[in-house]
Amino acid sequence: MISLGLILFSSFLCHVAIAGRTCPKPEEQPFATVVPLKSFYDPGEEIVFSCKPGYVSRGGMRRFICPLSGTWPLNTLKCLPRVCPFAGILENGAVRYTTFEYPNMISFTCNPGFYLNGTNSVKCTQEGKWSQKLPVCAPVTCTPPPVPKFGRLKVYKPSSGNNSIYGDTAGFECWPNHAMFGNDTITCTVHGNWTELPECREVKCPFPSRPENGFVNYPAKRILYYKDKATYGCHDTYVLDGPEEVECSKLGNWSAQPSCKASCKLSVKKATVLYKGERVKLQEQFKNGMLHGEKVSFFCKNKEKKCSYTEETQCIDGTIEIPPCFKEHSSLAFWKTDASDVKPC
Ligand SMILES: *[C@@H]1O[C@H](CO)[C@@H](O)[C@H](O)[C@H]1NC(C)=O
Ligand SMILES: *[C@@H]1O[C@H](CO)[C@@H](O)[C@H](O)[C@H]1NC(C)=O
Ligand SMILES: *[C@@H]1O[C@H](CO)[C@@H](O)[C@H](O)[C@H]1NC(C)=O
Ligand SMILES: *[C@@H]1O[C@H](CO)[C@@H](O)[C@H](O)[C@H]1NC(C)=O
Ligand SMILES: *[C@@H]1O[C@H](CO)[C@@H](O)[C@H](O)[C@H]1NC(C)=O
Repeated sequence: MISLGLILFSSFLCHVAIAGRTCPKPEEQPFATVVPLKSFYDPGEEIVFSCKPGYVSRGGMRRFICPLSGTWPLNTLKCLPRVCPFAGILENGAVRYTTFEYPNMISFTCNPGFYLNGTNSVKCTQEGKWSQKLPVCAPVTCTPPPVPKFGRLKVYKPSSGNNSIYGDTAGFECWPNHAMFGNDTITCTVHGNWTELPECREVKCPFPSRPENGFVNYPAKRILYYKDKATYGCHDTYVLDGPEEVECSKLGNWSAQPSCKASCKLSVKKATVLYKGERVKLQEQFKNGMLHGEKVSFFCKNKEKKCSYTEETQCIDGTIEIPPCFKEHSSLAFWKTDASDVKPC
């Protein structure tokens, strides 16, 4: 037993004496590998550091021999990532990146109206080259626009050869007698197609009917179409209610239906009234009656307060209501003051 213990002990002493101290596992260097990698090394054993793929040495020692002291010398090896060619500018677009070093990725986008011709991202490879060809931003184009049935191009100018680019427009008009439904202008979109085409449809209107106490004129044609016009008028004392001219609308009806309205005969013989803000004598101003739509204000008395106020009334299609507060004096009652001569309330 003793002899065995002695042998082991002396062999241990022997080992220390000959080999000195062992070196520990070397400290890890960023982006580097070590060969061979062990948990300890005998003095005299050699290790070699090398940069990992994608990294290159920028100075420092690579080779070390485990010294008798058992302590590795200071390792100054520096492994830095490979740098790919500058790719920070994309015309008509943008590049997203942090650095152009291995193993980073950069990505590309194009401005509105441009599309990416090529890949939308590339990677910096171990060799320090971009994984794919860098893309370009090419302008979006639209082929010449279609033309609506029953319509024609009015405004159009290709700006890129025979094509249009994003934002270009084309305008249409419809054939005569046809109305447009939709926008008359289309635009080349970011998708390279045109916005929705308008439609041209034939539109007819019925013959306009003659108003009572009046007349209507329209083109002597078998059919009246979109944009055709008709004019109205009234006989003698009648007044047109509505526009003189109407147009066949795209909905197939007339823009308005004017009618003739009767003027009013006045039951009051004498009165001072307000007409368009002026005092006038009713009997003189409206000798021939009052036209439809006209307004006057009569003067009335407030008996308690001994003052006057006005009330407005209007001639509507032959009828005018005299305000009940208005009192017409007999021409014999010359001593009575007229309401229009009393101070206003
Ligand atoms: C897109 O890129 C390819 C290859 O680089 C090129 O041949 C082609 O002409 C480009 N197209 C446009 C519209 O730029
Ligand atoms: C435009 O179109 C015409 C007729 O189709 C063709 O002859 C011409 O080569 C085209 N031009 C371009 C620049 O594409
Ligand atoms: C018609 O389209 C033009 C351009 O595409 C636009 O500016 C306009 O607002 C549109 N008009 C209507 C009534 O939608
Ligand atoms: C244009 O293309 C886009 C994308 O493909 C689509 O969503 C859109 O409906 C198209 N517009 C028209 C008017 O066809
Ligand atoms: C024309 O017809 C449309 C739909 O039928 C209607 O909404 C519109 O009020 C009409 N216009 C006139 C002036 O009558």
